Amino acid sequence: MRIKPLVFLLTAALFLGTSDLPAADSPRQRERIDFDWKFTKGNVDNAQTVRFDDSEWQSVDLPHDWSIYGPFDTKAESGRSGAYLPTGVGWYRKTLTIPAADNGKQISIEFDGVYEYSEVWFNGHSLGLRPYGFISFSYDVTPYVNFSGENTIAVKVDNSRQTNCRWYSGSGIYRDVWLTATDGLHIPQWGTYVTTPKVSADSATVHVAAELRNQRSAAAPFDYVCTILDSGGKQVQSSSGSGQIDAGATSEIVTDLTVDHPSLWSVDAPQLYTTRIEVSSGGQVVDRYDTVFGIRSLDYDVNKGFLLNGTHTKFNGVCLHGDGGAVGVAVPMEVWRRRLVALKEMGCNSIRTSHNPPDPDFLDLCDELGFLVMDEAFDEWKAAKGQVKQGYHTLFTEWHDPDVTDFVRRDRNHPSVVLWSAGNEIPDQTSPQGPATARELVGLFHQLDPTRPVTAGCDNVYAEPRSASPEFMAALDIAGYNYVDRWRNRSYLYFRLDREAFPERKFIGTEDASMGGPRGNYGNPFVSENAPGAQPPAPAPAAAVSAGPGPGRRRFSAAPRIVVEQLWRVVAENDYVEGDFMWTGIDYLGEAGVGAFSGVIDSAGFKKDGYYFYQSQWTSTPMVHIFPHWNWKGHEGEVLPVYCYTNCDSAELFVNGKSYGVKGYGLMLEGMRDRYGTQTNPGRIRTTSDLHLQWDVAYEPGTLRVVGSKGGQVVATEEVVTTGEPAAIDLALDKAILNADGRDVAHLTVKIIDDQGRMVPTAGNTLQFKVEGAGKLIGVDNGSMSIDESFKGDQRTAFNGLALAILQSTRTPGEITVTVTSAGLPDCSIKLECR
Ligand code: GAL
Repeated sequence: MRIKPLVFLLTAALFLGTSDLPAADSPRQRERIDFDWKFTKGNVDNAQTVRFDDSEWQSVDLPHDWSIYGPFDTKAESGRSGAYLPTGVGWYRKTLTIPAADNGKQISIEFDGVYEYSEVWFNGHSLGLRPYGFISFSYDVTPYVNFSGENTIAVKVDNSRQTNCRWYSGSGIYRDVWLTATDGLHIPQWGTYVTTPKVSADSATVHVAAELRNQRSAAAPFDYVCTILDSGGKQVQSSSGSGQIDAGATSEIVTDLTVDHPSLWSVDAPQLYTTRIEVSSGGQVVDRYDTVFGIRSLDYDVNKGFLLNGTHTKFNGVCLHGDGGAVGVAVPMEVWRRRLVALKEMGCNSIRTSHNPPDPDFLDLCDELGFLVMDEAFDEWKAAKGQVKQGYHTLFTEWHDPDVTDFVRRDRNHPSVVLWSAGNEIPDQTSPQGPATARELVGLFHQLDPTRPVTAGCDNVYAEPRSASPEFMAALDIAGYNYVDRWRNRSYLYFRLDREAFPERKFIGTEDASMGGPRGNYGNPFVSENAPGAQPPAPAPAAAVSAGPGPGRRRFSAAPRIVVEQLWRVVAENDYVEGDFMWTGIDYLGEAGVGAFSGVIDSAGFKKDGYYFYQSQWTSTPMVHIFPHWNWKGHEGEVLPVYCYTNCDSAELFVNGKSYGVKGYGLMLEGMRDRYGTQTNPGRIRTTSDLHLQWDVAYEPGTLRVVGSKGGQVVATEEVVTTGEPAAIDLALDKAILNADGRDVAHLTVKIIDDQGRMVPTAGNTLQFKVEGAGKLIGVDNGSMSIDESFKGDQRTAFNGLALAILQSTRTPGEITVTVTSAGLPDCSIKLECR
């Protein structure tokens, strides 16, 4: 144990806001103040003043994103980048009482994220301006608090500087807001830093460093107890100490604790611990500060790649933007939970928070579910990208230091965060001042967190006409490659040339194309690749405004993409490549219109065929998936390809009971074992060196059945059936009971089914939603990125058989009834309960 004065290098704006939660009976109070705000759009004079009359303003709860309410307008200033949605200026106000008992405490307000250029006033006093819309920040309001009556918070949000983001940013106070009250002698927010410098199965050293600040008027003696609690709340270790702290000073408590036989945090078993620091003075407990952390070790080896707890682990990664589809960027965590669980089932173990600091709650979920996170700061440094006029390059010089500082201090205790990214496709890669900027930024990350390496997603490592300088690349701890196969013979040599030229370089694929395309859109699959006028298989479409059915002489967008398969093979086969992050895991709003179809999960959370490509490569629980659908009336006798992704040894396709043959992957090849002549699986059928199987089938209505085998046993099957016409609506909820907390969310999946209960894969029936009782409809979607229907309306047209409604509880317990109607189909309703 040691107590030492801290060299205090932080500015007043950086103290607060954290995802660390206090113990329930802590003398520290921290609560969300998300409910009952007033909101109006547009510039308003004097709205910061206490006496301003906001009674005519709209009542809203946070998180709130005003852009997602629309309307869509192709002439909107946000343009394609901003999903054609409105931006501008908005004002928020809230009144709150702070009990007289808190007089003498330190009071602060913490914002997890406001997009963008927020200015905050408390009882009419301006607290500051915070331009970067993805950063968390806070203000000390102690001097301005009225303990005997009401207090007013006013927030001006200015998202009128268009365009400022290459993807949909949303507008408003789109993350949580917190009110914190502490004793004058307290640990400031983000004031703890917990690391695990020595980790083994037998024992781990937990290093705890905590700032202690004395904002009382006099020096104070203090005692502290630092306890480590396991995930069940059981104390596993503790240490204690005491000291004296001057008025106005900040000290540091530093202690090392040993945990025997630790439960390590990993992607398969994400075990969490908590450090609890209890500070007392004069016999009174004055603060109790909890920090959730994980015990795990990270090694990035030039040859072996990434090791988690000493075990080689490949980043099976996806890039994600921060929107949640129909809810815009005001994303309830249960929306993220559903999406992340789907990614986990795909075998994904890593997420890149492209291209900005995420919601802190999102990282809590990653800790809990076991995702490795590449936590990214910026999309621009000093040099502009050109696509947006008012991007971060306009802020970099003034703001990068406080922004990086707040970012790293906020996120550095998360076990999920294993790698920092200082930026994405930064044009400074190729500029003369780029290396100096990179060195400065990386140095700042290292200073705040020496335990994690720093990369950046570079698209110009080798590029024409100009490449990133080796000096720039050397400034990064790990060279991050975006689209490594883009130029010339790198298209098939991938990382190899650079591996030879720079043997000390560490390699990671920070971004690469995925298996996107609109879900369930097969266009005209009967076009042979060799037919006159046929177009080659489409490359991964980055984005599209809306998804038409796409008839015509073009092969369907879900067709397997050889380039994606090849790249994944290279990543999988070479340990020195730490992994890869696909662009993207989930479709996102903006960039090229309403949204981009680059995900393997659509904006409504429905899985696309490409999802099963990754599942076949990243999981071992036997699976088979075949596509396209089998509703091709009028095409009888015409030949189309049936594709399959599987992790089985082989798969056999049957069409109406008739076998079309057994097929199997040649890769990954396994040689002999033990001695010459002993093959692990000698009879294994190997028909392709691709990472998908294909049968050409003359269409006849009926049943496609695929049977997957492993070691001669049937282990997985899937059927695709020709369905009848739409006959009914089928409703399914992911939860039957919601917490009546005004935050919990249920997802209602709507399927259009035929008279035998089978989803009609081409159905496009228009649905009306009515929600009655103790809940509200907070979004409708179908994954089509249509400009014709609002995400916030009560109507949605099914897209290829499916639609989604997102329901949220209120703070009143009771029943919610959802009724879905559609012309020509029987009405359908479903109930859920809020407790
Ligand atoms: C990448 C970029 C992403 C996104 C993507 C679209 O180059 O890093 O942000 O724009 O292209 O395909």
